[in-house]
Parts: sequence; C-alpha cells; structure tokens
Amino acid sequence: MSKIIVAQNAGFCFGVARAVDTVNETIGKYEHIYTYGELIHNKDVIADLEKKGVLVTEDIDSIPQTERTVVVIRSHGVSKAVYEKIKQCGFEVLDLTCPFVARIHSRVIEAGDMPVIIIGAENHPEVIGIKGWAQGKVYIVGSAAEAEKVPFLEAALVVAQTTITHRLWDEVVSALKTRIRQLDLFNSICDTTQKRQKEAVELARASDIVLVVGGRHSSNTEKLYQLCRRHCEKTYYIDNIAQLPLEKVTNHVIISIVAGASTPDWLIREVKTLMSDVEKVVDTTENMEEQEVV
Ligand code: F3S
Repeated sequence: MSKIIVAQNAGFCFGVARAVDTVNETIGKYEHIYTYGELIHNKDVIADLEKKGVLVTEDIDSIPQTERTVVVIRSHGVSKAVYEKIKQCGFEVLDLTCPFVARIHSRVIEAGDMPVIIIGAENHPEVIGIKGWAQGKVYIVGSAAEAEKVPFLEAALVVAQTTITHRLWDEVVSALKTRIRQLDLFNSICDTTQKRQKEAVELARASDIVLVVGGRHSSNTEKLYQLCRRHCEKTYYIDNIAQLPLEKVTNHVIISIVAGASTPDWLIREVKTLMSDVEKVVDTTENMEEQEVV
C-alpha cells in the first residue's frame, strides 16, 4: 500500500482565503458584484462564484452603473490608474488587495521618482499592479540574464513579486549589485510562499510521486511544480481530479500532494480521496492472478 502525504502548507493562503470569504459574504448585499479580473486562478471557484452572480471583467466601462454595484479588487491588487478609474465611475470598491502586496505598493510610492526594479513576471497581474504605482522608471526583471540588461544606475528600489523563489531573488540581486551603486532592497517574497516552497522541496526529495494541484495560470503553483520536478522526476501538474495520472500510480510508493495558494481545500481533499481509493484497489488486487494493476 502506498503512503499518501498532503503538504501542511497546501491550499488557500491568507490573502486568497480573505478574498474568497469576503466575496462570499458580500453575495446578496448588492445588485451587481464584479471582480476586476478573476478573483483567484481556479476555474472551478470562478464558475461557482459566477453561478452566484459574481461576474468577472477587466472592462470597467461595461459595468452597469447602479448605486448597488460593487467592484472587487482581488488579492493581486491593481495599478493606481485602474483604482482611480473604478472610483471615478462612482462604483463602491471592495479592496481585497493582500496586505503583503499593499505593502509593496506603499514602498513603491515612497520611492518617489527613484527607479524601481520588480523581480517577477512581466505579465503577472500583481507585477502590473505594482508597476502602476511607481512614479519613476520601472524595470521588470525575470532572470539574472535580464538583470544584465538594466542600465547602470545611481540608485534603485528593488522589490519582488510575492511568489518568486529566494533563489531567483538572490541571483537577480547579485547581478544588479554590479550595475547599481545604491540598492534599496525590499525582499517582498511572501512568507507563505517561502514555507510552501520549502516544504514542497522536502516532500519531493522524499517521494516517488508528487501531485501538484492547482490552476494552470497560477504562478505560485507553476513554481511549486518546477521546484518539485527538480527533486522528483515523477511530478505531475493537475488542475482537477480528471487529470490524475492514475495509470502511472504504482503500489508501495510515497505519493505527496502539494497545492498552490489558489487551490481550494475541497479539491485537495478530492485528490486525496481518489488516490486513497485507487490505492485500496491496488491493495486488494495485488495478489490476484492476471489482475491488471492500476
Ligand atoms: Fe498574500 Fe502571500 Fe497569498 S502575498 S495573496 S498571502 S501568497
């Protein structure tokens, strides 16, 4: 029989849980509830919210202008321009920007016209939001090689997308040290991310199979996958139970389940239950002749 381990740091982080819970509590209190972009990177959760009347848009002009319309800002936060546009349109704003992301916005605002370097992915909504609060020049750097393209500067503030790895932070910062005389370093990697990644690596090292559960657009889940993959060759990235690689599960192995910050608990439980059921089948059939092992 295999051993199934679920990571302790799996599923909704503080910022995502707060956003999902608050939106659920808001249902029924307004005529229209819109989220600016998908509340979290999970299709099932978004579909469920849609059924309850919570709609997604990034086109503020298309939102019906009634007194009872609320626009939700998700945990990733938004740029100053988007925030002001929502306000100017007269909508009530439910700002669920994660406090850890809001802290980055504050540091960027405090930097005034000093150049800001954001270590992260250019197209990620959190990075777009952070960039949108800067008053000076912004450089977005996704790797040490990209850091080499930043011009020589007198001073710069360096911040991180909350979900990058410490390894990336260290690599980029050492590359920047050769180009910028005075670095104001604000390592804004989220603690949750750090714990989650550390535990994922430990589990991957000790496991035969790792299942990484989470949405395909979830940057932190993708990073967990990459980290686990480095330490466990049989690492699989799954959105839902339909994608479980049941045919690849063998008996007497250690299977770890890790999950991103936007993966709901019920999905993690579903994966665990299905894996346990499969393992029971394997366990009861292993001594039967000509029985195909799942
Ligand atoms: Fe916030 Fe960290 Fe989650 S920044 S949204 S608690 S990953």
